Amino acid sequence: MKILSIESSCDETAAAVVENGRGVLSSVVASQVEEHKLYGGVVPEIASRRHAEAINPVVTQALSEAGVTLSDIDAIAVTYAPGLIGALLVGVNFAKGLSLATGLPLVPVHHLRSHIASNYIAHKELKPPFLCLVVSGGHSHIVMVEDYTKMKVIGKTRDDAAGEAFDKAARTMGMPYPGGIMLDKVAENGNKDAFTLPRPKVNDAPYDFSFSGLKTAVINLIHNAKQKGNELPVADLSASFRWAVVDCLVTNFLKAAEDLGVNTLVTAGGVSANSLLRSRLTEECNKKGYKLYMPPKELCGDNAAMVGAQGYYEYLDNNLADMSLNATATLPIDFNRE
Ligand code: KG4
Ligand code: ZN
Repeated sequence: MKILSIESSCDETAAAVVENGRGVLSSVVASQVEEHKLYGGVVPEIASRRHAEAINPVVTQALSEAGVTLSDIDAIAVTYAPGLIGALLVGVNFAKGLSLATGLPLVPVHHLRSHIASNYIAHKELKPPFLCLVVSGGHSHIVMVEDYTKMKVIGKTRDDAAGEAFDKAARTMGMPYPGGIMLDKVAENGNKDAFTLPRPKVNDAPYDFSFSGLKTAVINLIHNAKQKGNELPVADLSASFRWAVVDCLVTNFLKAAEDLGVNTLVTAGGVSANSLLRSRLTEECNKKGYKLYMPPKELCGDNAAMVGAQGYYEYLDNNLADMSLNATATLPIDFNRE
């Protein structure tokens, strides 16, 4: 079964053709990041306009790179939530138009579920159940993936997402948007023990995260150094901050795995490209004898191949939509459509 999939939840317009949930025939991503860099973050209005311009050529390219036409496609999958509403609407309306014109079934896909599904593309043997750490620019969740379309949230952030905290700390140090990637690189040359940062905990919720206090602590250190006219120890600050964020993620994730008795661990989302997160989890999982699956770095960020992967399993579960489908800015990952 071939699915044409579309993603436009944030600042990437993407389309892909995916076979049986695991085989990527094409995957095209048009990134707007260079334009948003000028403003230090994603400007929603600009994102929507660029999606509207890019969607037709991106979908056309995905079909042509896969060597197929719409008549070879069996279903159309689209990210419908969560994300920037104006951005999501471009993909959803385009997919609805295609579905109406071709009569092909329309499969709505949750963005975070699709991040999890990026692992099905990379690891053909991976099947639920497993425990997944979903860490992106907007979300930080520990999710029990009981089945392809059945999830349970075990823990989540009470304030900032991990990616958001990385981006804000990086921006305060003068790094361009999205700063998480650069902070990760700069941290490689720093001393993680140079600064002691807090490890915020949420009372009575051992699997939940809180990153805003940690972010404020590092921003205060940066402001203090700037006020004193000192040169910013950017590498040391980055290394200490990265160590603290990753420590919180790894500690809670492993505790949840141990308490739930799960020994297959998976990561997903943009922040799972973080090199320290990857190396620390690899080390800890080796020690404990857990199986660990992580998407390759090129599948960590937003793309449409992962939407086609999750779309396949949503289709098999009969989670289809009609022309009344709307985009939704916020939606829990464990929400099931009627
Ligand atoms: O999943 P994603 O591409 O988009 C959302 O759904 O939000 O995640 C983007 C986030 C950004 O905050 C970006 O800075 C962060 O992932 N990110 C990283 C790294 N690569 C991307 N954060 C830390 N280290 C990285 N290497
Ligand atoms: Zn994402």
